[in-house]
Amino acid sequence: MKKHFNVLVTRRLHRSVLEKLGKKCNVILHEGKIPIPKKILMKKIRNVEGLICHPYDTIDEDVIQVAKNLRIISTFSVGFDHIDIDFAKSRGIKIGYTPEVLTNATAELTIALILDVMRRVTEGDRLIRDKRWRQVFGANDYTGTEVSGKIIGILGMGRIGREVAKKANGLGMKVVYSSRRQMSRNLEKKLKIKYLSENKLFENSDVVSLHIPYSKDTHHKIDSKIFKKMRDSSFLINTSRGKIVNEKHLITALKTKQIQGAGIDVYELEPVEIKNQLLKLENVVLSPHIGSSTDETRYKMSEITVKNLILGLEREKLLYSV
Ligand code: DGY
Repeated sequence: MKKHFNVLVTRRLHRSVLEKLGKKCNVILHEGKIPIPKKILMKKIRNVEGLICHPYDTIDEDVIQVAKNLRIISTFSVGFDHIDIDFAKSRGIKIGYTPEVLTNATAELTIALILDVMRRVTEGDRLIRDKRWRQVFGANDYTGTEVSGKIIGILGMGRIGREVAKKANGLGMKVVYSSRRQMSRNLEKKLKIKYLSENKLFENSDVVSLHIPYSKDTHHKIDSKIFKKMRDSSFLINTSRGKIVNEKHLITALKTKQIQGAGIDVYELEPVEIKNQLLKLENVVLSPHIGSSTDETRYKMSEITVKNLILGLEREKLLYSV
């Protein structure tokens, strides 16, 4: 079969999925430094009709500009803040992404971080490995915070926010939320969630969990002003995007005990630098941007990314389009 399309893949996907793609297209797989350096990206994208990219690849105006033949950008992610969507669309380029399949995995990680930071699991792991386990069975020794009965304030009630609400309900938490739009009463009843203004949510929650997309409007949305509103016994959980939180302000809030702790999966700069102060704090649990990282989910993401790409090349409707 004649292969009509050239496709650039910036990072390896599952082998079987790439093989399928290889039967239809000429695949240029970037195997060097990750993420693909901009200079190499701009060189390799020049003559391709399709691009498969990842959240660490910045697909900005410069990149899109040189890709004269580009029809489709298919990102291996639910987030698409790394792509200049308006500019791509102005050039008639379609954008595919992978929502839904990673909702459960990301919600699971959110719950894992809540349980971990509140019950001090990873902190305890460090304590044992560092041979600092002495007496933790005294009445007041090494106590955490009980999760059941606490209020979780979910900021953003999209797919992932809703799944977190369901799981938090299962843990016996009370769920409040704030969102651009209030859900219907029926849905609120079904999900056992109560709408609050953002201010009230920050003031009243024991756990604040972020599930909003990153954009210039949400840049540093969570800053010192917000930490002042939060309870000093509260926890912040972020599995959305790092730049939504002013990390410097978060570090101050954690150091000065303005909040009690944080569970963080995403950072202003990824991978985090070794000098990042978050690494020095005991009251934080850190994971390396692994919201979608389960075998099951990542395989589905690979498949959808390739399906979106092929549909875009063939000028068909994408499975999931931005
Ligand atoms: C996503 O899909 O956007 C996740 O954050 C992984 O990057």
